[in-house]
This record gives sequence, structure tokens and C-alpha cells, in this order.
Amino acid sequence: MQPINIADYETLAQEKLDPAIWNYYQGGSGDEVTLRANRTAFERYALRPRVLVDVSHCDLSTTVAGTPVTMPILVAPTAGHVLAHPDGELATVRAACAAGTVMIASTVASTSLEDIAAAATGPAWFQLYIRSMDRAKELVLRAEAAGYRAIVLTVDTPRLGNREKDMRYNARRRLFPAANFDEDDFTFSYTGDSLTWEVIGWLRSLTTLPIFLKGILTGEDALLAVEHGVEGIIVSNHGGRQLDESIATLEALPEVVEAVAGRCEVYMDGGIRRGTDILKALALGARAVLVGRPILWGLAVNGEEGARHVLEILRTELELAMALSGRTTLASIDQSVLKRVG
Ligand SMILES: Cc1cc2nc3c(=O)[nH]c(=O)nc-3n(C[C@H](O)[C@H](O)[C@H](O)COP(=O)(O)O)c2cc1C
Repeated sequence: MQPINIADYETLAQEKLDPAIWNYYQGGSGDEVTLRANRTAFERYALRPRVLVDVSHCDLSTTVAGTPVTMPILVAPTAGHVLAHPDGELATVRAACAAGTVMIASTVASTSLEDIAAAATGPAWFQLYIRSMDRAKELVLRAEAAGYRAIVLTVDTPRLGNREKDMRYNARRRLFPAANFDEDDFTFSYTGDSLTWEVIGWLRSLTTLPIFLKGILTGEDALLAVEHGVEGIIVSNHGGRQLDESIATLEALPEVVEAVAGRCEVYMDGGIRRGTDILKALALGARAVLVGRPILWGLAVNGEEGARHVLEILRTELELAMALSGRTTLASIDQSVLKRVG
């Protein structure tokens, strides 16, 4: 089968991957209610297309924390890309750069942050988990020295979610090298459970890079994030892998956008599989979206080319959705394109 959409890549990736890895990638936490909700939330909105608009040219370009990108679609941080393909994160970063967008490299990448940066032909960002302050400080300084353009602190992981597929397959520890750490030091990393909002000031004292918080789901926390002076928020529930039964990201997005009131950038991730999903997220106020699993599926199926193709499919679909809804610029995509139907 020649894959023509993201679902095709999912099917092909499942055929290709060892079940332990497949289940590690696919799994959510608990009963996977949130994992499913991330997808079904999109169906609660229908599109209201406008007609007789000159849509011969649609402009998808924007900036993210000042970095120009050719489309509002970024590569979410995900761990262990060598599980998908031997070229691992090197393939992913090349694909993202070739597509004119940004990869956010995970703390628990299977390639060192320096090697990823060296393979990048454009800007990349670094995702941070803080298990120990010393380790985190070292990672931030290394990331800055390697040329990363932003730090994305993941805040929804004081502990790891209850990922039962991982328990059944014991996938994580057995399968994946975390290249940013010495083998001896290696403990599977997530953000520690004693961190509080003071960590932002500490991070700010270490780096001049823009700071994003990933994993905000409420207006209350969005407000605190703004008060602590972050450059951006990523509305995320970790792809349904942390607190099961937490709110779908598309549902959480409006209250975050409202609380922020333009004072920092807001992105979202979770369940983005179609260009129309992106259109809906932008209409509810996201400046950009991130994609997680689809990139892993692309990598698994065809390495760098597969990851690149996944990005190009999403770009093409978003462009078509904009043309068919009569919105030719990202700025023209507002709530008037949506009708709540569920
Ligand atoms: C296999 C896998 C590994 C992940 N690893 C990380 C990680 O290391 N750091 C992080 O902040 N988020 C991680 N995430 C969450 C993603 O960044 C993102 O929030 C999520 O995948 C988006 O949902 P989607 O997969 O439906 O696109 C991971 C997700 C998956 C599926």
C-alpha cells in the first residue's frame, strides 16, 4: 500500500513494528479515555465554509517564538526514535528541517542532543524533564550551547501515568537507550514530583532562551504560566498518557486561550491526524499544533522520507481545508469557521 494519509501510516507502522514498541507508542494511560477523547473532540465541531473567495494562494507560514516556519505544524517531543528506525532522531530532525518546521527534541531521545543539533539544517527546540536540578541544569546549558532555540518544560509528568500497555510489554526500559545520559546514570526520565512554579524563575536564571510549558489544561494554570513570564504554553495531555479522564486538548484550548489573552503563544497537541483537525485547533486560538505519534509512524515506515511525507500530508490537507473553507491566511481562521455540533 502506498500511504496517502496518516491513517495509512498508522496501519503500515503496526505491520512493521515489534508489538512491544507498537504498544509503547500507541498506548495511553488507564482505560485510554483521554486518548480516545483527544480524537472524538474534533467531531464536535463542524466547519462553516465561505465561498467565492479567491483561494488561489493560501499562506500557511507563521512564526513560533520568533522562529519562522512554513506551516503551523511542529514535531512533538517523543522519546526513543531509534525504536522506530535505525536513523532515529537524526532522520526526524532532517525531515522537520526539510519541511521548514521545528522538531522539539526529547530529553529522553535515543540520540544525544548535540548529535541532533548537528544534523539539523534549521532551528530545533529542546524538551526538558527535570528529575534532578543538577542534571536539568546541565541539559539546559548543553542545549543552549548546541544552538537550540527554545526550552520546552514538560509539566504534566510529576509521576509517570499508569500505562498498562507498557506494564504488559515492559517496553520502555528494556528497549531504549537514552543518549543524553550516561548509561550508569540512566533512570527513565520524567519531571520530578516536588517541582513547583518556582522552577520557572530558576530556569530563567539559567538561560535566555524562550521557555514553553507543555502540559497545561486549565485556564488557572495558563494564568499562572503568564504571571511567571513564560513565552508559550502547549495545551497537552501527553497524548492521553498521563492522567486518564483528563480533558481532551481541543476542549481545554478555549479556556487557556481566554486566560492568556494574547500575553504568550498557545499551541496544542493530541490527536491531530487531519488537516481539518489543525484548522479547528487554529480556529479555537492555537497558533500552531504539534504532532507526536504520526511522526513515529512515518519514521517506522520509511525513515526520514516517511516522517517528511507525514508532515507534507498534513501541510497539503491543511492547505486544502483552508482553500475549501475560504480562509487564505492563518490570521483569517477564527471561530466563525466552526459550529459546535456535539
Ligand atoms: C511514544 C511517545 C513518547 C513520548 N515522549 C515524550 C517525551 O519524551 N517528552 C514529552 O514532553 N512528551 C512526550 N510524549 C508526548 C508528545 O509530546 C505529545 O504530547 C503527544 O504525543 C501528542 O499526541 P499525539 O501522539 O496524538 O499527536 C510522547 C508521546 C508518545 C506517543
